[in-house]
Amino acid sequence: MEIIIWKQEMSVGVDSMDNEHKILFSIYNDLVKSANEHRGGEGLRYSSEVWERLYNFINTHFDNEERLMLESGYDDIERHILEHENFIRRIVKMHESVSFNSGNILQLCLLLRGWLLNHIAIVDRGYAIFVQKSQGKQ
Ligand SMILES: [Fe+2]
Ligand SMILES: [Fe+2]
Repeated sequence: MEIIIWKQEMSVGVDSMDNEHKILFSIYNDLVKSANEHRGGEGLRYSSEVWERLYNFINTHFDNEERLMLESGYDDIERHILEHENFIRRIVKMHESVSFNSGNILQLCLLLRGWLLNHIAIVDRGYAIFVQKSQGKQ
């Protein structure tokens, strides 16, 4: 499984959020490394500490992002929050089924990777102008 490298083209135009996205990728990469190193049943146990770290940080990031959107008066905030909530529900469900079945976390990593890249590239961009304005940068 491949790791994710943050690139300038992934910037959402808000430094604090770019920094959190970089942290997200770095913890995701730890999960991939852990999964690659420890395949099988033992691998899952080994990855669960990293999983907890990633899961907690995803929640922290969503909280921070939603607060920023709220403060900036972003007009599409409800749809954005719904996307965050649906994603949390999906990964919790998949993590449960992965834990239940065996040590294969490939599917979970693929879901995380695809969703994070897509969400950051498309949905997170939406708040940029609002937040920049509210921070006096436009
Ligand atoms: Fe978001
Ligand atoms: Fe984000």
